[in-house]
Amino acid sequence: MDTTGTLFLPPANSTIAPEVDALFQFVMIISIIFFIIVLFSALYFVIRYRRRGEREFTPDISENRNLEIIWTVIPTILVFIVFFWGFKTYLKMHVVPSEAIKIKATGQKWFWQFDYPDGASSTNDLIVPVGTPVEVLLSSQDVIHSFYVPNFRIKMDVLPNRYTMAWFEAPHAGEYNLFCAEFCGTGHSKMIGKVKVLPEREYNEWLDANSSAGEGMSLEEYGAKLYKAKACVTCHSIDGSPNTGPTFANLLGRTEHFSNGSSLTIDENYIRESILSPQAKVVEGFQPVMPTYQGILKDRDVDALVAYLSSLKK
Ligand code: CUA
Repeated sequence: MDTTGTLFLPPANSTIAPEVDALFQFVMIISIIFFIIVLFSALYFVIRYRRRGEREFTPDISENRNLEIIWTVIPTILVFIVFFWGFKTYLKMHVVPSEAIKIKATGQKWFWQFDYPDGASSTNDLIVPVGTPVEVLLSSQDVIHSFYVPNFRIKMDVLPNRYTMAWFEAPHAGEYNLFCAEFCGTGHSKMIGKVKVLPEREYNEWLDANSSAGEGMSLEEYGAKLYKAKACVTCHSIDGSPNTGPTFANLLGRTEHFSNGSSLTIDENYIRESILSPQAKVVEGFQPVMPTYQGILKDRDVDALVAYLSSLKK
């Protein structure tokens, strides 16, 4: 495995990566060679053909056919090599192997939600088995995001009202950064996840454990887990510090004023409403940017979050 990467590329870990890297290196080396040729010829000509005296005139050179053929044909050949090489790799990146497992990925301001074939789901962490082709079906709840895993050399736009697709096969287990590569608002830089490539057995264990989420936990404990797992933590602190959204410290019993002029003492119903219909009562001074969790959270998940958030003091 390539553990070092290069100055320009992080360590590679996907079956497509060697092809992308080889083409990148080819373009890079060709560019360096031409840069040197052009730069040094220019310098040489500037010195060799400089004006030496007051009465010297520029020689009248009209053309050199051989030279013109050479500097047309060679770059044309190079451009064709790069085109067909790139096109071949592009096709490979877009034809999914039939045995690929399918994972649904949803981008929204500002986190990733992943849904697996048998009902498990995760937020920001994409869990996949090693050595298996994985197809990721992408869509967005709001604006354009971009699904970018540098170590896999894949990047794909994530659009509202349309599906896009990316696939990869990671030959080595490990953790790899997942970025949103399209500026999508104030939380864009926090829209960071991990692709966790696990051995087959651990992957199956994870699937089993997560299709029955929260079993054997109290509502509060499960809510604390969801607060991180569902990315509430991205915008809401629990230590009293303001963020994109209001803090959750001392939430219950606090009196809030809303942007529509009304005010309310916060109770469980307000918390529930704000999770499912965040735009209903937006706290004054904050932007109405929270996405709805309708359809993402199950009833028990909402109960657990309400229990956890009601319990936060400071
Ligand atoms: Cu999502 Cu940037």
